[in-house]
Amino acid sequence: MRAKENDMASKDCVKVAVRVRPFNKREKDAGSRCVVSMSNNIITIQDPRNQQNRRTFTFDHAFWSHNGFVRNGRGLFVPEEEGGRYADQVSVFEGLGQGVLENALQGYNATLLAYGQTGSGKSYSMLGYGPNKGLVPTLCDRLFQFIRTNQDSRQCQVFFSMLEIYNEQVIDLLSRGSRSPGGLRVREDQQRGFYVEGLRRIPSDSAAQVEQLMEQGTRTRTTAATHMNSNSSRSHMLIILQLKQIFSKECITKQSNINLVDLAGSERQRSSGSEVDRLKEGTAINLSLTTLGNVISALAEAALGKKVVHIPYRDSILTKLLQSALGGNSRTVMIATLSPADICYEESLSTLRYAERAKRIQNRAVVNEGPTERLVKELKAENAKLLLRLSRLDQEGRRTDEETKELRRLLTHNELQIRAIQTLWEQRLQEALKDWEAQYTTITQERTMMQMYPYMLNVNEDAQLSGVIKLFIQDGEWDVGLADSSPRSISVRGLGIQEKHAVFSNQQRRVTVTPLSGSKVTVNGATISQKTELHHLDRLILGSNSTYLFIGFPSERAGEDWTRYDYDYFQSELAAAEGIHLHSLCVFISVSAGSIQPDPSLLAVFYDYIRLMPMVTEANQMSQELNKGVEFKLEIKNLAMSDSKGHDLEKEIAVRVTCVERKQVWMWSKAKFINRKFLMEEMYQQQAGGVSGGVVVGGADLPPLPRDRDPFWDPLEPLHLGSAHLWLQSLPFRIHVEEQVEVVGPEGSEEAILQTQLIPCSPTGLPLGEDDILIDPTELLGKRLDFQLVLDQCCGLRWLKEARNRGVQIGFQMFDCPQPLYTPAVWHNVNPVLEYRVQFTALKTSPELLNYLQSSALVLELWGLQEGCTDLVSSLDGVRTTPEGSIIIDKASTPQNTVSSDLSSSLHALHQDLEQLRVTNAALRKENSALREQLSASARHGADGGRGRQERRGSLRTSCDADFARALKVFYHSMTSVRGQLQRLRRHRPSEEEDLLGLRLFVDEHSRLLKDFGEQLEQSVSTLKQDVAAIVRRKREKSGIWSER
Ligand SMILES: Nc1ncnc2c1ncn2[C@@H]1O[C@H](COP(=O)(O)OP(=O)(O)OP(=O)(O)O)[C@@H](O)[C@H]1O
Ligand SMILES: [Mg+2]
Repeated sequence: MRAKENDMASKDCVKVAVRVRPFNKREKDAGSRCVVSMSNNIITIQDPRNQQNRRTFTFDHAFWSHNGFVRNGRGLFVPEEEGGRYADQVSVFEGLGQGVLENALQGYNATLLAYGQTGSGKSYSMLGYGPNKGLVPTLCDRLFQFIRTNQDSRQCQVFFSMLEIYNEQVIDLLSRGSRSPGGLRVREDQQRGFYVEGLRRIPSDSAAQVEQLMEQGTRTRTTAATHMNSNSSRSHMLIILQLKQIFSKECITKQSNINLVDLAGSERQRSSGSEVDRLKEGTAINLSLTTLGNVISALAEAALGKKVVHIPYRDSILTKLLQSALGGNSRTVMIATLSPADICYEESLSTLRYAERAKRIQNRAVVNEGPTERLVKELKAENAKLLLRLSRLDQEGRRTDEETKELRRLLTHNELQIRAIQTLWEQRLQEALKDWEAQYTTITQERTMMQMYPYMLNVNEDAQLSGVIKLFIQDGEWDVGLADSSPRSISVRGLGIQEKHAVFSNQQRRVTVTPLSGSKVTVNGATISQKTELHHLDRLILGSNSTYLFIGFPSERAGEDWTRYDYDYFQSELAAAEGIHLHSLCVFISVSAGSIQPDPSLLAVFYDYIRLMPMVTEANQMSQELNKGVEFKLEIKNLAMSDSKGHDLEKEIAVRVTCVERKQVWMWSKAKFINRKFLMEEMYQQQAGGVSGGVVVGGADLPPLPRDRDPFWDPLEPLHLGSAHLWLQSLPFRIHVEEQVEVVGPEGSEEAILQTQLIPCSPTGLPLGEDDILIDPTELLGKRLDFQLVLDQCCGLRWLKEARNRGVQIGFQMFDCPQPLYTPAVWHNVNPVLEYRVQFTALKTSPELLNYLQSSALVLELWGLQEGCTDLVSSLDGVRTTPEGSIIIDKASTPQNTVSSDLSSSLHALHQDLEQLRVTNAALRKENSALREQLSASARHGADGGRGRQERRGSLRTSCDADFARALKVFYHSMTSVRGQLQRLRRHRPSEEEDLLGLRLFVDEHSRLLKDFGEQLEQSVSTLKQDVAAIVRRKREKSGIWSER
């Protein structure tokens, strides 16, 4: 095929459309707000955390499919009222698809790309769901309609191909034969550019046939996804329609390639934690998508007139195949799909930015002419010449038999050639149609079977691939598993599926499943070990993660909506079986309307949990099959652990990795686990050498990966076991406290008890006495404060109880100290003595430090050491010390740092504090003058012994203050234990076995704890009241001021 360089070559910018979809269940559950609005083609997105922060974008089209729609009798989503703003599938086709079709019919190459976050509606727009047909089927429908109505003017040939790019491998979705390992090759040809070698092109002549081919392709995609244990959201799907139009009268042929691309989900990893994985992100996890982004950026820059040396088309399979679509000979349209929910803000904004870049790309599309037709044209022209020569020779009467014979032979040869070229299409079409009819028979057969037998319907993470595979359970007994040798077996492939996995039986209208030894079968969330009867709409999981919905006998089906049993449903059910419910995780908050909504961030944690759960099961299965001896377990980390205020809301998912034999433990963040899981899949597939349905065959002779590239392995690192909160309130009163604090693990377990002391001291480290206790901590402002933190001992270390060849360290970061400090490591002891002492000094106590001491806790982190890992060392970078070696904190108030970046905010805080101090000062002055008046009055009353009384008053003041300070200390101590009780109460949650008895017991226990808590609180307050009353009484008695009045 060669492009005809003519005047029609023009500059075309890539056209970009944006479509917003309705909220999905998760978003509705989270009570999401819509942060995207549209007006004509202008789209505005608002930052949910900052209402003022809005971004506006303008595109060629904007489709509002978020609300204002109803489902009509035929199941179509249509505008609520005629002319409503809701953009249904038809209007999206009219806005975009129609143009693509027209371009193709004019002879241009045309490309339609769908880009967006996972679950944002790419497949809905491109392919559609059920009766809501997407762009591709409608385009095919209209194309064949056009061909039929324009048969007289042109002959049309359509070739259909469908492929998938997963992990940089091309899979032919219409291929019948076994898949070649490594996928099909992409080659480059001077004329054709990049193309997929050996890709099936199926001649098609009706929309029904194309639809069926698409169904077949989706089926292949689904089975490939389950066999290879891959995730279709990470794969790109390309449908290529080659359209040839032969205009016999005009002797011209137009040829165009229509590329229809459903790209992989553009989900960005939400960064969780600061940790960076040792192993680079999976080599090809999204190489194609990343490269596409790079190509688009480079082309956008070039369009802006910047000098771009290199467009990295060759860096990925996808960009090679889309080379002409982007910056080349094609008219290209991109539909960017988004969710308008506040929780998707970041992803949606990034999609809009991406789309904006794509909008700038300039293509040069030309009308294409094919060489075959030129040949026909040339042959025809030659024939015309031959005929002319023959007739001339005839007229001139000077032809020889020889010459005539030769000319006639040439003529016949040419005609045969022309016919051969033209009949090739007919023949191929006939063959394809025959093939299609055979397929069609299978579909009809399947429909009949559905009306006769119960069956298992596959459920996939990608809704587009759900309901594609049906496994019928006909009368009698059926072996289900990898083996498909016997006529009474049903072949199922997937991770963790055995040769013979389970027996299904359909007898006397009862269907049962019996797992065979060593195989895993889950029914409605519970793993079964014996024969179990199946009922209509039961959920089945075979092996690690082959999920099916059981559809009962036709008589049991009552037209229910099966779609509610989606992948999330299966996983939530499994999580519930593990004791993870939404309500066990979430603190429900009420929203303004008065309805109760779960906290969105906790909801996100719940969905993360159910998303990662099947991945963890798969990782365990792979570890087992590859003999890695590593186990993975999901944990919900309570971030209150590391919060200095002890707030209890934030939670995060982490994966605990354990080497069973050596009892080594690692904690991986969600992002790291997802990356590793991908690398494990890659390794598993390589080692399996074309996995035969989850069982490693062949490939075992591959050399094992070096350890530093093994995704199952990591060097040992200190492990964060838990944290304790040491509240600092005693320090501003200059009260010495000894406290035992509980180190709580990420899941609320007690990891150890820490014996600690906070000792107010002199600059040289001498402990202060009771006389130094302050009643009003604001007296500290601007003054020097010295105190020591002592970590005496750690008791009952759970980490050590599990294995003795371990050690621990405690780490903490005091106020604005630039580095965390660590105690020296202690090993092999459940109750190790730490004897760690460190002194801190604030040279001029600032209001910030005072506020910190009054309201925060020092988070003491317990770090677990394992043999072979290096200790944590305190770095003294940027840490300043006094000549006595005390660490200087509160630098904002020291002269060196007065020019700090947040100076204005501290100034503001200072002003506020000053204001408060002024008010207090005024009040005190008032009180003072009142006292003075009383004093002079009493002096007037009895001048005798006046001096002595004054002396007495002086000593009285100190003694009363000391009494008061003592009372305060007692109160402080009792409040510490009350606080401990409050924390215990907060952590106290009902057990997950939801039985009534359990709940009742929980409620009783909770009430008891509450009662204790209340009593203790009452007790401490009343002790304080009594003490204060006693002091006041004593003061009155001794001073005689009031009594003398
Ligand atoms: N415009 C829409 N109207 C109604 N439902 C929609 C719309 N767009 C998407 N959906 C629904 O949202 C879900 C996810 O959509 P879809 O499968 O198209 O996402 P996707 O972008 O292809 O995701 P992935 O990257 O995982 O393939 C589907 O259940 C689909 O029915
Ligand atoms: Mg999709």
